[in-house]
Amino acid sequence: MALNLFKKKKKDHLSTKQRSLISHFVPKSPISEQYRTIRTNIQFAAADTPIKTIAVTSTAPEEGKSTTAANLAVVFAQQEQRVLLIDADLRKPTNHYTFNASNQYGLTNLLTQQGNLEETVQQTVQPRLELLTCGPIPPNPAELLGSKRMQWLLEQASRVYDVIIIDTPPVLAVTDAQVIGNQVDGTVLVTANNTTKIEDGKKAKELMQHASARVLGVVLNKKDRSKGSYYYYYGNK
Ligand SMILES: Nc1ncnc2c1ncn2[C@@H]1O[C@H](COP(=O)(O)OP(=O)(O)OP(=O)(O)O)[C@@H](O)[C@H]1O
Ligand SMILES: [Mg+2]
Repeated sequence: MALNLFKKKKKDHLSTKQRSLISHFVPKSPISEQYRTIRTNIQFAAADTPIKTIAVTSTAPEEGKSTTAANLAVVFAQQEQRVLLIDADLRKPTNHYTFNASNQYGLTNLLTQQGNLEETVQQTVQPRLELLTCGPIPPNPAELLGSKRMQWLLEQASRVYDVIIIDTPPVLAVTDAQVIGNQVDGTVLVTANNTTKIEDGKKAKELMQHASARVLGVVLNKKDRSKGSYYYYYGNK
């Protein structure tokens, strides 16, 4: 995916928050189109076994995992699917900021047996997309994410939602993404143009595969495109 969300455009009055959720606020933009392409690629990645639970990770911090997860969740919801976005980055959660949601209760409450899924998820600006924020930051993220309760929660969510997108911490930093990758149908690996080292990308992929995670593909994020192609709008979606 070749995209740079923050390249300003004339007559562009989007706030930083709106820019982070471009697929919702500017669904006709070329960047939103790129997210739809990723959605299609994910859907085609598995002809026989439909991919319902998808983890999003990257090698290192700040490569665009949360932005990719949020926009992917939006484009799946725009396709009439009921979608749950889970913030499973229990170390540096950000999805509640992106969606202007409260983070008082979230995933960590459910993993410690407080509350139920239905009462804890929050509606978002995007119809059919619900958000399970991180909740209070725990001292033992990997342990919680690897718990039976997490598996049970994913099973429960799979009964209610068509697609579940899970934002995770970076693979090379901590084990959490591997722990999640092992429990989901597929993982998307985000790389940042110019900053992700090829070696690190390969290592991250190996680590995920080692944990029996299925890597569906790699997203090349933050790519600076030539002006012409960036402003090119295609079709009427
Ligand atoms: N395609 C993009 N173009 C330009 N900037 C982007 C793009 N994707 C993400 N960013 C910016 O890069 C920064 C990091 O993005 P994001 O929070 O999505 O990354 P992350 O991998 O989830 O980070 P962390 O490891 O801290 O969780 C943010 O300021 C975000 O706005
Ligand atoms: Mg993040």
